[in-house]
Formats: sequence, C-alpha cells, structure tokens
Amino acid sequence: MHILVTGGAGYIGSHTVLELLQAKHEVVVLDNLSNSSALSLERVEQITDRQALFLEGDIRDRALLDRIFSAHEIDAVVHFAGLKAVGESVQQPLMYYDNNVSGSITLCQAMAAAGVFRLVFSSSATVYGDPDTMPIAETCPTGQPTNPYGRSKLMIENILRDLAAADPRWSIALLRYFNPAGAHPSGLIGESPHGQPNNLIPYISQVAIGRLQQLSVYGDDYPTRDGTGVRDYIHVVDLAQGHLAALDAIVRVPGIHTWNLGTGTGYTVLEMIAAFEQASGRPVPYAIAPRRAGDIAECWSDPGKAHRELGWRAVLGLHDMMTDAWRWQSQNPQGYEDEPAN
Ligand code: NAD
Ligand code: WQD
Repeated sequence: MHILVTGGAGYIGSHTVLELLQAKHEVVVLDNLSNSSALSLERVEQITDRQALFLEGDIRDRALLDRIFSAHEIDAVVHFAGLKAVGESVQQPLMYYDNNVSGSITLCQAMAAAGVFRLVFSSSATVYGDPDTMPIAETCPTGQPTNPYGRSKLMIENILRDLAAADPRWSIALLRYFNPAGAHPSGLIGESPHGQPNNLIPYISQVAIGRLQQLSVYGDDYPTRDGTGVRDYIHVVDLAQGHLAALDAIVRVPGIHTWNLGTGTGYTVLEMIAAFEQASGRPVPYAIAPRRAGDIAECWSDPGKAHRELGWRAVLGLHDMMTDAWRWQSQNPQGYEDEPAN
C-alpha cells in the first residue's frame, strides 16, 4: 500500500516507518520537525535500505495536504503528528488543541476531499482517566483525562466516531497506546526528547549516562506492591508492528475500531529502575519525591481484543526494552543532536 505517515520522523513514527518499509509499503512522511529530527529517517534508510519520501510541513496546512494527496495515490494515513507533553499542555492549552484537534480535523477534511478514508490514529490510554479496576479493556468507558493533552486525544476520538457514524466509507483504527518504551535493536533510532525528559525511561537513561544527576521517584505511597506507580510499558517495535496489523484490519473490516496496544503486564517505578540497572550495568541514583500532579496509581491493559482481532500481541519483554533503550542512549548520548543535520 501507499501510506502517508504524519509525524513519521518522531519516536513512534520512525519505528513504524521502518516496519512499513520492511513490509514493502511505499511511505510518504509529513512532519514539521517541531519535536524531531529528519536524521531519524536517514537512519531508517540505513537500516532498511529503502527510503520514505520526506516532506517537511504541517498537518494544519490544508493546501499542502491537498497537494500531497493529488501528487500521491495514498491508500491509508497513519496519523502520529501532534504534541504530547502533558505539563506543556497545561501551560499552553490552545497550542495543544490547535495542533492535535484542529490538525486532525484539517487532515480528515483533506482525506475526505481526496477520497482517502482509511486512518490509523495514535490515541492513548490516558482517555480512560483513572479507572477503578485493572486491567483496562476497551469496554471500560472513557474517563476524564486530567490535562489538555489527554482531553485533546479524547476529543479527536469522539470526532472520528462521529465521522465514521456519518459516512460509512471511513475505516478507522483508534489505537490506545499504553507506555511506549525502548528503541530499535540496531541502536540507530530511538527517543530523543528536546530538553529535560518528562517520561520515566528517557529520564532513567539520561541519569545512567550521566547527563542528569538523579531520578525523582514521584511518590512511594500509592496502593501498589512497593508504593510506586505501576504502568504497562510496551516495546516501541511491538507497538510499531501493531500499526501494520491495524492497517490490515481496517482494509478488511470498515467502520471504527478501538484497540489497546499494551502488554497486559504492569511494572512499578522501582522495578523499572532495577531492570535498567541490570540491563545497563550502570547505577541509577534516585530519591523519593512527592507525587506528580495528575498521576494515577496504576494503569495496565487487557490486550486480548487486539490479539483476537488483529492477531497481534507484544512479544518483547522488559529486558528487551531496557537493553534496547540503553543501546540507543549509550550510542547516541545526546540523541539525534549528536550528529549535525546536513
Ligand atoms: P513525537 O513527538 O516523537 O512524534 C510526533 C511527531 O509529530 C514529531 O515528529 C513532531 O515533529 C510531529 N508534529 C507535531 N505537530 C505536528 C504538526 N502540526 N504537523 C506536522 N508534524 C507535527 O511523539 P511520539 O512519542 O512518537 O508520539 C506519536 C503520537 O503518539 C503522538 O500523537 C502522541 O500523542 C501519541 N502517543 C504517544 C505516547 C508516548 O508516550 N510516546 C503515548 C500515547 C500516545
Ligand atoms: C511513568 C511512571 C510516574 C518520571 C505519560 C502521559 C500519557 C502518555 C505516556 C503520551 C509514573 C513515574 C516518571 C520521573 C517518576 N502520553 N515517574 N519519575 O505518566 O504513565 O504517561 O506518558 O503521549 O498520556 O501521561 O508516563 O513515563 O511520565 O511515568 O517517578 O521522572 O513513572 O509517576 O508512575 P505516564 P511517565
């Protein structure tokens, strides 16, 4: 198939572009590089010996989207483009609603005008809010996300549901990611956050390499097995492969589908630190700090629906995530900033 990947230079996008190219799809990437580097795609080419066409631009640029759809026979869109920093979304909500919600609306308008109705959307487990019971299945009602970022994802899901209800030509996958982690085993592509990382694994990695002094563990008084927060960390390569399975499924079965992409297993922050220390052979100094506003105690998936309907399941475990995260971090201590862009 010919696939347009928005946000394809980013962390999850670049890993998915790699899998798409290896599966012999033709790929066009649209990314404004607001949170990424085009080097990621050069590295993908190095690994796959195949090339995605890279276009630098914004999903909110309708004229650009129209030009892309008229120049290329696109069969489906995999839509990663958006902003994702929870704290920043609290400070700058309009920027988040504009990029994520308005951007997705503009993309869907351009798709419909071009007669392209297959869409895979990056949603998040954050749309479940703070459910009472674990694991979280897709039948769990969506809750109240605690920040504008999370609300933007829920708004987009609702818009896409309305769209699918109004026009049966749409075929849409809402993929609710749990906590993406790790990197491609080549060590050539990975997560390269700008500034101080917000997420646990990039933070741990930068402590282990000596860029940051110590990790703050946000709370050790949660009702969990060691008092620290529990999350369902999923290897980014498994996650990327889930997108290919979802693409196959929406070609076969039109309509709108929701799938959790997680492993079904939760780990605490202290377990993550111990696993990283073991995989890297480096100590990760940490101190217990107060709870972070908006955090929930635990969150892990029931991944059964994706397995039943997509034939997909995560196969990589915690050790793979940590080994691959460390390989990426140790080979690229400053992320993509190590190499000057051409
Ligand atoms: P990322 O920031 O690495 O990738 C997003 C990409 O989109 C970046 O390359 C950025 O430059 C691009 N982009 C942003 N706004 C754009 C715009 N208006 N036009 C064109 N390009 C734009 O983030 P990621 O971790 O790869 O996340 C990809 C998607 O998955 C995002 O939609 C994110 O919200 C969602 N998601 C991520 C996580 C996570 O923990 N990483 C969890 C759940 C959902
Ligand atoms: C994981 C655990 C923290 C950093 C967020 C977004 C969610 C999704 C993924 C996507 C928690 C603890 C973290 C640190 C810590 N977003 N922690 N010290 O919060 O589950 O999910 O990213 O685009 O929408 O909310 O992920 O990696 O930030 O935290 O103790 O320095 O690690 O409290 O228990 P989270 P995370």
